[in-house]
Amino acid sequence: MYVNNSAERGNFGSRLGVILASAGSAVGLGNIWRFPTEVGNNGGAAFILVYLCFVFLLAMPVMLAEFVIGRGSKANTVGAYRTLAPGKPWIVAGFMGVLGGILVLSFYSVVAGWTLHYTVESFANRLTAGQDFGAVFNDFVTNPWKPIIFQFIFLLMTHFVVSRGVERGIEQFSKVMMPVLLIIIVLLMCFSLNMPGASEGLRFLLRPDFSKVTTGVVLSAMGQAFFSLSVGLGCLATYASYFKKDMPLVSSAFNVCLLDSLVAILSGFIIFPAVFSVPGMAPDAGPGLVYITLPHVFNEAFASVPVLGYLFSGMFYILLLLAALTSTISMHEIATAFIHENYHLSRRSAAVLVTLICMLLGAACSLSFGPWSEVKIWNRGFFDLFDFLTAKFLMPLGGILITMFVEWYLDRKFVVEQLTNGGTLRVRGLSILLFLIRWVAPIGVGIVFLNEIAN
Ligand code: ALA
Repeated sequence: MYVNNSAERGNFGSRLGVILASAGSAVGLGNIWRFPTEVGNNGGAAFILVYLCFVFLLAMPVMLAEFVIGRGSKANTVGAYRTLAPGKPWIVAGFMGVLGGILVLSFYSVVAGWTLHYTVESFANRLTAGQDFGAVFNDFVTNPWKPIIFQFIFLLMTHFVVSRGVERGIEQFSKVMMPVLLIIIVLLMCFSLNMPGASEGLRFLLRPDFSKVTTGVVLSAMGQAFFSLSVGLGCLATYASYFKKDMPLVSSAFNVCLLDSLVAILSGFIIFPAVFSVPGMAPDAGPGLVYITLPHVFNEAFASVPVLGYLFSGMFYILLLLAALTSTISMHEIATAFIHENYHLSRRSAAVLVTLICMLLGAACSLSFGPWSEVKIWNRGFFDLFDFLTAKFLMPLGGILITMFVEWYLDRKFVVEQLTNGGTLRVRGLSILLFLIRWVAPIGVGIVFLNEIAN
């Protein structure tokens, strides 16, 4: 019934490559920067439990729907709807994904650029004790050109991986970097758990306080699950278009969700024991936690052996940087694949175009912290506007459309064939999964969406 565009497209070479690349897309600043911030602000372990429910009940069904669309069409996110629903308005979801990928990359690369700068500063031993780290951070992010230079270097790193192609670029990079990332997490966790006040940090992280679980907290957990798993924009659909036909979709989605949640929780095990080991540090310091609170913590905690302090902090920022990079390549890939396949440009030229667009928009996002802080559209600077448009608008709306498309538009037989690899796999709980995709995901995400736009 559906046309297949598989001829001459790149493919992931191995199952491990698929899991690591998809987990790389998911694991990012969302896990290591945003998740601990949310946990800190929303009462610790209770938030984590609610979050995990949403990961497996809402975000995983959307991820599966993306896998079905991508592998079932073997096309970029716009081409997928053109193939599976020719002449129908569903293609709008594809264009939303391309736009969303570019917007996320533009503002996300600002924070990634800050991280690159902090990595350099750590290893150069310039984040030393006695400084006002709030002022240091503020001076840097409001500078008109310094953050843009780091942002552009980061975008060029992303560009380099994407332009090498699916197997030689994205897959190879993920296969090396994801294990490195996991090793750094475990090392940092060992350091952190041995700090003097670690037990208090652990108590904060592990003791659920359900009195803190308000409607707002539940909705934040849902939004965080979506952002963290990179669902709703079609980047996982784009990756799935490179899956081979024997790739098991359900277990892959489950493993990606598991890895992503593990990294988020382990990041909490790094950050909170460290924060609680320094008197007077607050776990709910908001987005400044990573760039203002942590440099202070690293200095205080390792005051007697400063070299360990800057080793720890350098490794932490490298971890953040790698996580950001594995995510940005997937965002870049949405638009690169679309331009490459749709406009018959070479992959390299398509990647150059996407990088240039993101540099332009990204510079505007960076400037919105400094010289352009007064430039507002709908009452928001560029950075906040792009964040709002993607995390609160395009991603949830995309999630609703993607799940509705799979369960309400596509032929049920086709969907089941994809999920069971043409009947060759026995998938336990298949009918529950289909129920989640059909009802729970679109309704749940719809609630988040309405709440977000009402605020
Ligand atoms: N999923 C990516 C992250 O968590 C966007 O940062």
